[in-house]
Amino acid sequence: MKQEIAAEVAEMVKNGKKQPHLAAVLVGHDGGSETYVAYKIKDCEAVGFKSSLIRYEDDVTEVQLLAKIKEMNEDEDLTGFIVQLPLPKHISEQKVIEAIDPKKDVDGFHPVNVGRMVIGLPSFVSATPFGIVELLKRYKIETNGKNCVIIGRSNIVGRPLSVLMSHKAVNATVTVAHSRTENLEEVCSKADILIAAIGVPGFVKANMVKEGAVVIDVGTTRVKSDETKSGFKLKGDVLFEEVAGQCSYITPVPGGVGPMTRVSLLQNTLLAAKKEIYG
Ligand code: GUN
Repeated sequence: MKQEIAAEVAEMVKNGKKQPHLAAVLVGHDGGSETYVAYKIKDCEAVGFKSSLIRYEDDVTEVQLLAKIKEMNEDEDLTGFIVQLPLPKHISEQKVIEAIDPKKDVDGFHPVNVGRMVIGLPSFVSATPFGIVELLKRYKIETNGKNCVIIGRSNIVGRPLSVLMSHKAVNATVTVAHSRTENLEEVCSKADILIAAIGVPGFVKANMVKEGAVVIDVGTTRVKSDETKSGFKLKGDVLFEEVAGQCSYITPVPGGVGPMTRVSLLQNTLLAAKKEIYG
């Protein structure tokens, strides 16, 4: 997919069009956010996008951040931008998200984009759900009429994914399970497609997975490790060793959903550059 995007960007530039430009705002020094933003910048370089990183310390005020967003909304050189979450407690994430011009909201977090996505209008779609649907499509996984169970109802993953999976392009029958779901193991064990997005390492065990199911692991919990250079290791929500043998497909962690999320942000930025969502 990155090669496809890079080829399209090269063609655009050859035809005298502007190079897509993605900016990321990073507040503070959260380890996970630092890593994710570094990947985003690297991905931009790989496909020929221009990229910018705007850094603030933890003590930036909400007023300062909102002023920067206003400036970025008006910056004609900028195709799209993201504000990496989480933000420090003294800043309202919702206020920040709603300050972003929906036309530049390549994260797809603004209520206008979420609302448009829900009713099937062109919109920027949150990168992880977008990537998961693309993954199912590219691996030709049958979704028509299938029973899809999503564990987790976050605004970024579970909830938007549940809507996408129910759209006519996918046609799954969707259950959103969460911390209050009764008989969770039984609910999960009926899934043809089981998607875990709860952030609890190893939560999904063999007794929750139907023989032959497709299992998508969205978990990326950072745990301390002596085995890696960074001192951290990513852990998925699925107990891979126990579950892998009984499903038809399973995504690994790291790998799987992470790279698809990364490429989806590039895809959204390309859609913004081509003005395919809002004209
Ligand atoms: N934090 C965790 N995931 C994301 C994401 O997709 N976008 C932003 N902006 N912040 C995040």
